[in-house]
Amino acid sequence: MENDFNFSFGLLSKVSKATSYIRDLWEDPNPLISVICGSGWGEIVHEFSTSQSISYQDIPGFSKTTVTGHAGRLHLCKLNGLDLLIFQGRRHYYEGEGWQPVVFPVLLARELGTKTILLTNAAGGINTDFQVGDFMVLRDHLNFMPGNPLIGKPLYPEFQRFPDQSEIYDPTLRKLLIQAAEKNQAPIHQGVYLALSGPAFETPAEISAFSKLGADAVGMSTVPEAMIGNALGMKIAALSCISNLAAGISKEPLSHEDVENTSFAFLPNMKATILSFLHAFTE
Ligand code: HPA
Repeated sequence: MENDFNFSFGLLSKVSKATSYIRDLWEDPNPLISVICGSGWGEIVHEFSTSQSISYQDIPGFSKTTVTGHAGRLHLCKLNGLDLLIFQGRRHYYEGEGWQPVVFPVLLARELGTKTILLTNAAGGINTDFQVGDFMVLRDHLNFMPGNPLIGKPLYPEFQRFPDQSEIYDPTLRKLLIQAAEKNQAPIHQGVYLALSGPAFETPAEISAFSKLGADAVGMSTVPEAMIGNALGMKIAALSCISNLAAGISKEPLSHEDVENTSFAFLPNMKATILSFLHAFTE
């Protein structure tokens, strides 16, 4: 029986059905890297030549996104003659369907042969050196989400029961992201991302406490995907766009519309940085 404490129940068979479906449909894609697009980042897909794309809800075992700014399409793109997968939109824990839809893209990407994953998100800036529109490469994270996506029967024999998390975010990929942003004169920092379930934004008192704990930015995603990818031995990189200053640091009330509008305003930097990163990665 599926229950709240066994997040992996039935997941593997869903992922394997989805994998076979996509392999047949797209004639054995061979993606070197996969990108999961957070709020606002989905527009980067237009920078690539897409050979195939499919709605999440047409992939067996997966389901449609419920948040605006998350298109919910999987794209098979080409760069330097190589395949890459772009997940245009993500599922979040706060959408209320548990961990399975959240980690599904990582497992699907892995089954399709991807060994490296780039996670993107919009985040609230806690570090007072950060400005709206800056990027932050995740150096590490603080996981304040409820439960844990690794609870349950180990999914694969090679799945680590007690994964080491000393260096989830790959140092070489972090360097490539920084170089890519600098090449495009996009302001970039490294920092610690604190993840909460949401969907409410934080209170000023929470942000003040998180700052003392060492968080540089806050958001409602990314960490579960990074944890599962790490447990499976994948190489992980993650990049935030600071879409707003966090509660109490910002003088204005926070809204998802503002998060989306900021991301839209900084889209040229986002596109250029991702393109430079992927060029360097695939060279
Ligand atoms: N808090 C949490 N999640 C977010 C924020 C924030 O301020 N901005 C974008 N995602």
